[in-house]
Amino acid sequence: MPAAKVKKEQADPFESLESTPFSRGTLIFNKDRFVRFLEEMDGQEDLTLLRRGVATLKDIINAPKRDREGLLNIDPNGGTISLRKDVLISELNQILTARTRERARYYLSRLQKGVQNVKTNRVNDINLLRWKEYDEIITDSLWVLERRDSSGAHLGWYWGNFIPQIPHQMMLRYTKKGDWVFDAFVGSGTTLIECRRLGRNGIGLELNPEVAKKARELVEKESNESGVTTEIVEGDSREADLISILSRYGRTQFDLLIMHPPYHDIIKFSTDGKDLSCAKSVDEFLTMFGEVVENATPFLKRGRYFALVIGDKYAKGEWVLLGFHCMQEVLKRGYILKSIIVKKYRGDEREEE
Ligand SMILES: C[S@@+](CC[C@H](N)C(=O)[O-])C[C@H]1O[C@@H](n2cnc3c(N)ncnc32)[C@H](O)[C@@H]1O
Repeated sequence: MPAAKVKKEQADPFESLESTPFSRGTLIFNKDRFVRFLEEMDGQEDLTLLRRGVATLKDIINAPKRDREGLLNIDPNGGTISLRKDVLISELNQILTARTRERARYYLSRLQKGVQNVKTNRVNDINLLRWKEYDEIITDSLWVLERRDSSGAHLGWYWGNFIPQIPHQMMLRYTKKGDWVFDAFVGSGTTLIECRRLGRNGIGLELNPEVAKKARELVEKESNESGVTTEIVEGDSREADLISILSRYGRTQFDLLIMHPPYHDIIKFSTDGKDLSCAKSVDEFLTMFGEVVENATPFLKRGRYFALVIGDKYAKGEWVLLGFHCMQEVLKRGYILKSIIVKKYRGDEREEE
């Protein structure tokens, strides 16, 4: 599953790490007191005294009743800071085991920055100063997923859908809240359901009117707390008028493109000649896919991401590398490859992707 990105982007080692921390084992500190406590440790000339401060802090974390400094709070409110316990303990251990005061102060100042500042980038909402806390985001290139997310409107009814974790991960890594996502092969609406959950706006195109209708009904069932736009448009992604679709919302571009095309003819989605699954040969399939890429990519903002989700096929004794061929169709149109991700799914055998 390659993800490509428009040229001229500087690689950012942390830009793929993102949001929703503090789900488990969270500690709530009184921010002012905690900051002061760290500053006092930082001011220690002697490594032993600095370590003693760290040991006191660890003691407070492990036995809150011994918190004579008043560092811990019970409720999160304006003057508090929430930190994940396991990450904080590991950072404190790093300070404790540092051999020199300089090294200990380096780790301490990293902790101080994470407590006091927020640093994000252009493509997502991850706080780069606290990236270790985002364990929801998979940063490996092999995703081993145990089971499909079948919560809410995700019914998994559509033969050939992808599991919701795929668009979910893509949006966490490559979009910010309120961004606009375009899915050129929306099928059962998985991407748009995730858009509603994550507070991203989503437009999806689907050739098959019946599938589009059912997908719309399902997307509407998903609550929409952020009040985002989610629209499924019926049409052929090779020629749909994206200018007029976008202009309905006063926009000219998207922030993320997701494409999960048919894997050529592995599943015939219809008998419509415009359907990529009806292409008479792999070459024709690739030509049609290239037309979709050409129609959609002018509307992807420069520097933003294109996620292609596809599998290969095996026919007449030959392994046909649909994934690599499609990736090539994208790359030859001016994109650079950022990652290839392989997904291993251990759940329902019925899944296509
Ligand atoms: C692999 S499925 C996508 C499934 C989707 N990701 C989901 O989770 O339900 C591919 C979809 O592309 C649609 N399709 C095929 N050719 C198309 C075209 N030219 N324009 C728009 N949609 C097309 C098919 O009807 C099918 O629903």
